[in-house]
Amino acid sequence: MRAIPLLKKYQDFLPINDKTPILSLHEGSTPLIEAKRLSKELGIRLFLKFEGMNPTGSFKDRGMVLAVAKALENGSKKVICASTGNTSAAASAYAASAGIESIVVIPEGNIALGKLAQAMIYGAKVIAIKGNFDEALAIVRKIAEKEDYTLVNSVNPYRIEGQKTAAFEVVDDLGDAPDYLAIPVGNAGNITAYWKGFKEYYQAGKSKQLPKMIGFEAEGAAALVKGEPIPNPETVATAIRIGNPASWKGAMNAVEESGGLIDSVTDEEILAAYLRIAKTEGVFVEPGSAASLAGVIKKQQQGYFEAGATVVSVLTGHGLKDPNIAVKTVQTTPLVVENDYQAVLEAIQSSQVT
Ligand code: F0G
Repeated sequence: MRAIPLLKKYQDFLPINDKTPILSLHEGSTPLIEAKRLSKELGIRLFLKFEGMNPTGSFKDRGMVLAVAKALENGSKKVICASTGNTSAAASAYAASAGIESIVVIPEGNIALGKLAQAMIYGAKVIAIKGNFDEALAIVRKIAEKEDYTLVNSVNPYRIEGQKTAAFEVVDDLGDAPDYLAIPVGNAGNITAYWKGFKEYYQAGKSKQLPKMIGFEAEGAAALVKGEPIPNPETVATAIRIGNPASWKGAMNAVEESGGLIDSVTDEEILAAYLRIAKTEGVFVEPGSAASLAGVIKKQQQGYFEAGATVVSVLTGHGLKDPNIAVKTVQTTPLVVENDYQAVLEAIQSSQVT
């Protein structure tokens, strides 16, 4: 059976009309995985919304399919974005499938290898600046204002509209909104989008409750937590290495309206959660995504959740995006032995292999 395109499935909630091309790479309909072992360990009902299962391996596909469709509808032939990697992968993939040009501006040396490979193979014009994401975004905003390019960062409202469909799916799968929605925060578009989605679905009578939105920034890039922009953000989680979130207001609004919170997690906590979720649940995410689980673990240790609370942790991108960090984090390499039965057996039984 052919899957229904995301733009069709939720068209009643999206700014779609007869002239909007229904693009699709089969984005959305990502799994909500019940984290049985972690739930037991943490004393909550934990579900993982695994957005790494989207066509380019991150949640960005949901918003990009709509942003590119609207660009086409409006006669645009070129899209442009700044990115820590995932937005550029999604923008270039949907631009390729729509037959238009894509330009991506990235911070040199601070984007995961897999994401760079994606933008290049999809045929984007890739420009790396000697600066960070916030600076790249300021440049592309200016270019889109002055030149004939459609900006497809999440300051483009269609991005938020598309991304809110993930909240619909969570409610469709659980039968209601969860008690808590934990999410990594970088440029703050996604937390804004989820909250919009939960509110619209609630107003349409699709859920009985609204979740508390709990967002987590990386400590070295925690502008919202600190209450001011950070000029030189630093974190191992390059996806959320952002010091001046564009959707600042949207994020704070989501947190305040829902009675949730914004907090930060250290790189150590992020990498510990990153390893734990892979080893305990068989779910491989990128470090930026693990910030949401790191936040859940931190808050659980502080006694924040009531016992048995339903918590959805949004896992925004696939672990294969950043293989270098995976290899570095496990700190082991395969043991090399002779091409021989006995040698392999001995290696298996030896304590040297972990
Ligand atoms: N997780 C991943 C894997 C991301 O790539 C991003 C953002 C976020 C979380 C944070 O989402 O920005 O909506 O708060 N990545 C952007 C990019 C900035 O360029 O790919 P946000």
